Amino acid sequence: MTDTDPEWDVVDLLVSQHARIEELFLLVGASAAEVRRDSFAELVRLITVHEAAEQQFVHPLARTGGGDAMVDDRLREEQRTNDMLGQLVEAGLGHPTFDTSLLLLREAVLGHCQNEERHEHPHLRDALPDEDLRELATVVETFQANAPRVHID
Ligand SMILES: [Fe+2]
Ligand SMILES: [Fe+2]
Repeated sequence: MTDTDPEWDVVDLLVSQHARIEELFLLVGASAAEVRRDSFAELVRLITVHEAAEQQFVHPLARTGGGDAMVDDRLREEQRTNDMLGQLVEAGLGHPTFDTSLLLLREAVLGHCQNEERHEHPHLRDALPDEDLRELATVVETFQANAPRVHID
């Protein structure tokens, strides 16, 4: 399924971004300087706009139909990964503990993505009409396209 498919919805979009996030973690961990820097900048931006869009548009809708506790758990995970990401950006690519911190962040972020795919996404598809989920994909894409760029030294 791609974003040109008429059935493409917000869950497909978020899952495709989870896959790209996983790919970028690999690229940052295993590449030479320039690719490493560019991949890290893309990773920071993607995680930031991905979680921001979820918090603004997706999680509030996932609260419908008894999703409150599940959404609160996801928000706690995002708070933690956001703090870890901020510390990693602050330390920078040249920091001696960068690679260790990157691995810890990877564990936390990918675990969080898995929890969304297991718990939140099936709930969204049960609780909301297909039409709304398709429209939400466009809302999220527009929001993310207009988000400010990230500059990494
Ligand atoms: Fe998230
Ligand atoms: Fe997500």
